[in-house]
Amino acid sequence: MNHFDIRDGEMHAEGVSIRELAERVGTPLYVYSSATFERHFQVFSQALWAQDALQSPKNEAPLIAYATKANSNLAVLQTLAEQGAGADTVSEGEIRKALTAGIPPERIVFSGVGKTDEEMAFALKTGIYQLNVESKPELERLSHVAASLGLVAPIVIRINPGVGAGGHAKITTGGAKDKFGVSAREAIALYGQAAADPNIAPMGIACHIGSQITDLAPMQAAFSKMRGWVQELRAGGLSVERLDLGGGLGVPYFNMSEPPSPEDFAQMVALTVGNLGVRYTFEPGRLIAANAGILVSRVIHIHEREDSGQKFLVVDAAMNDLIRPAMYDAYHDIRPVVAVQTNETATYDVVGPVCETGDTFTRGRDLPALKAGDLVAFMSAGAYGAVMGSEYNSRPLAPEVLVRDTDWAVVRPRPSYEEMMNREVLPEWLRPHRVRAD
Ligand code: LLP
Repeated sequence: MNHFDIRDGEMHAEGVSIRELAERVGTPLYVYSSATFERHFQVFSQALWAQDALQSPKNEAPLIAYATKANSNLAVLQTLAEQGAGADTVSEGEIRKALTAGIPPERIVFSGVGKTDEEMAFALKTGIYQLNVESKPELERLSHVAASLGLVAPIVIRINPGVGAGGHAKITTGGAKDKFGVSAREAIALYGQAAADPNIAPMGIACHIGSQITDLAPMQAAFSKMRGWVQELRAGGLSVERLDLGGGLGVPYFNMSEPPSPEDFAQMVALTVGNLGVRYTFEPGRLIAANAGILVSRVIHIHEREDSGQKFLVVDAAMNDLIRPAMYDAYHDIRPVVAVQTNETATYDVVGPVCETGDTFTRGRDLPALKAGDLVAFMSAGAYGAVMGSEYNSRPLAPEVLVRDTDWAVVRPRPSYEEMMNREVLPEWLRPHRVRAD
C-alpha cells in the first residue's frame, strides 16, 4: 500500500497535489511520502517483532537495519530513524549519513566486499553494531586495523549459501559464482580463526541472497542451511549469538502478482530459523522505499515515426534520473498525473532525451493518450531511483521532495547549471581561456 492516490482527478502524495509540486519545483523530480516509508517500516518490523521465536535470549527484538543504499536522503533516513530503524550500510559515506540522521551506532551494520582500512577504522571508532566480513583478506586487514586502534571488532561472517535469487542476474548475490561472502566451509574455518584472534569478536553469521525476491522458497532454502551452520559452529565449541538474514523481499511493481507479505515472510523465518537463541537482523531496502517514491516527468513531445507509425513519448526524465529500466530491464508503472479525460489509449515507447538507445523506459506500453506538456509519474521509484542518479549528458540531478500530510519540503534541491559546473576546476594552464556560461 502507498499514499499516491488520484483525488479530484489528480494524483496526490498524501495531501499534496503532484501537479502543483511539478509547477513549483520543476520536472523531473522525485516525490516521497513520509507516511508510506513509515507504514512499510512498521508493517515489516511488526511482522517480525510479533514472532516469539525471533526474540533473542536477552529479549531483544530483531534489529531492522534499513538498507540505506535503497534511498539515503537524510530526510528519509531521519524519518525512518524516528520509527526505530537501524541501518545496513556499505560505505563510510552511508555510515556518516545514518549517524547524521540520528541512527545510533548500535543499530548500524556495515556490509560490502571491499571495505577499505580507513572505512573499517571509522566503523570501529564509531562503535557500530557489527561488520559483516565477506572474505579472509578482509578479516585479516580488519584484525590489523582493530589492533592498531586497540579495539575489538564485532563481526559476523557473510556466507554465500549457493542459493541465488532475485529479479535480475545483476541483483542476485547468493549464487556460488557471485562475488559476495565465502562458502560455508571457509566461513567455518574463518570463524575459528576469528575466535582465536584477540582483536576480533565473531558474533554470528550473515547471508543476503538477492534483491526483488518474489518467492519465499529460495530464502527458506538458504535460511535452513544457515540454521545448520549455526548448529555446526556451536558443535565445534564456538559461540553464535547473532544471525543476519539480509534483505531482498520483493515489492509489487504493478505488473505482477503480489509478492509474499511481510507476515508470510516472518512466519517462514520463524519456522525455518526461529528459537536459535540468537539476535536476528534484517536488512530490508526496497520493501521500505520502493513504493514510497515516484519520479515525476513532463512529456516534451510525441514523435510519431512516419514510416512505422511507432510513437515515442519523449519525456524530460532520462536514464540518468532513473537507471533501473536501462540497467535491469526493470518495469515501472507509468501513470498520468492528471486524469486523462478520454478513454482513448495509445501504444508508446517511452524515452528520455539522453543520447543512447538504452535511455528507453519501456517499449510498446499501452497508456492513456497523452500530449505534450502532460505530466507522468514513474511509480515505485523510491528505491534505487535518486540514489543511482547521475549527471550524465550534463543533466542536473533531479530534486527530491518529501511530503508529510499536507506539508512538503525540497529535501535535495536541483543544482543550478552554475553549481553543477562550479564543482569542476580548471587547471592553471587553462584558466585564461575560461569562458563563463552566463
Ligand atoms: N543487504 C545487502 C547485503 C544487500 O546487498 C542489499 C541490496 C540489501 C540488504 C537490500 O536489499 P533489498 O531489500 O533492497 O532487496 N539497484 C538494484 C538493487 C541492488 C540491491 C543490492 N543489494 C535495483 O535497482 O534493483
